[in-house]
Amino acid sequence: MTASAGTDESPPDGPRTDVGILSDEMILEAARRPQHPSRKARLGFIGAGWWATTNHMPLLAARNDVEMVAVCGLDAAVLARVQRHFGFTHATPDVDDLLSHNLDAVVVASPHRHHFAHAAAALNAGCHVLVEKPMCTRAADARRLVALARDAGRHLLVSYGWHHRPLTVRAKQLMDSGVIGTVEHVACHMGSPSKEFFMGTAFRFGVPPLVAPEFDNYTDPELSQGGYGQAQLSHALGLLTWLTELEPEAVYAAMGDGGARIDLHNALTVHFRGGALASVSGTAGIPVGARFQLDLRIIGSEGALLYDIDRARLAVFRDDGDNHELAVGEDDGAYRCDGPPHELVELTLGLTDRNSSPGDVGRRAVEIVHAAYESHAGGRRVAIGELER
Ligand SMILES: NC(=O)c1ccc[n+]([C@@H]2O[C@H](COP(=O)([O-])OP(=O)(O)OC[C@H]3O[C@@H](n4cnc5c(N)ncnc54)[C@H](O)[C@@H]3O)[C@@H](O)[C@H]2O)c1
Repeated sequence: MTASAGTDESPPDGPRTDVGILSDEMILEAARRPQHPSRKARLGFIGAGWWATTNHMPLLAARNDVEMVAVCGLDAAVLARVQRHFGFTHATPDVDDLLSHNLDAVVVASPHRHHFAHAAAALNAGCHVLVEKPMCTRAADARRLVALARDAGRHLLVSYGWHHRPLTVRAKQLMDSGVIGTVEHVACHMGSPSKEFFMGTAFRFGVPPLVAPEFDNYTDPELSQGGYGQAQLSHALGLLTWLTELEPEAVYAAMGDGGARIDLHNALTVHFRGGALASVSGTAGIPVGARFQLDLRIIGSEGALLYDIDRARLAVFRDDGDNHELAVGEDDGAYRCDGPPHELVELTLGLTDRNSSPGDVGRRAVEIVHAAYESHAGGRRVAIGELER
């Protein structure tokens, strides 16, 4: 099975951005992952749209240790197509019905505004959960999800593909080793060629998808609950807080819309507990054809770590002169999102105990993004502790 299945809604012609889209190689790799010899994880999917059918379903259907049990989506014709394509036993527009099928784990890939309700329902039904980014859109809901997972003894993962890339895995090992001392400052920039996507004028992400995305879920501020900040900067903020373990305390933010109905450009100052500061930049305005930009410069009391996926660079500089420019492959940081769905299954089946994108990291990203929108709207610094809604 490939990601190039036919579609009823082909995208317009023109240059394409293939960042992060499933390849045949990734499908082959899926079958080579650690597999449980005798058990199958019973999986359900809430959301049967573009991303679930392009990434999660093909990857997981390629494993021998999963059962594609149930799928939930609102469009009956799309749902029937997805059920046929992936061989789901049950298809339903009703989340409670989906959760009645004795599932082990659920992937939540519905629009942002539903993530909290869908992930909470799945956790309450006793399932392990992989929820798409942003984990949810309100800080208080993020805290509730983390508490629910903890109390239920279930794994909660956020779909942060970058956490599994070789560049990130190495950077995380370095940060955990304390190589730069106590983190004092972070410069974090994310730039993607996604302006037309967030304006709803063109879709340039790889081959024609089985299911085209519903642009309104990204471009209508009521439905999307924000633009680049929700949909993309949430990745960078998950990565920042994963690598540094910093806890956000307050945010001052400004946003620009570049003529779109939602924000295309984000500029944040983030204060963390303990005094560290971050300057965070995000933009959808990188020209199509340019490489994705995700660049973190983490400055500590003893040195600095440079992480840069555009220029494929990972380096450590230390005050004592023990500097290292690490050997990095051209695509070691390039975006792929195979790690999170595989890790969900491998945690579910006890094949690993490592969660590389835990709910608590998603919670920190949600807190920062929520505070950023409040700050932009009110023109003031917003403390994370204020966000009780
Ligand atoms: N991690 C990544 O790299 C990555 C990449 C792309 C998209 N995403 C995320 O994936 C999520 C889904 O995006 P998409 O583009 O596939 O969206 P989409 O609009 O194509 O699909 C949404 C799906 O959810 C279903 N749905 C909507 N409301 C529902 C409800 N109340 N109950 C049950 N089902 C409901 C729809 O019917 C549809 O099947 C978003 O959160 C998006 O940010 C993540």
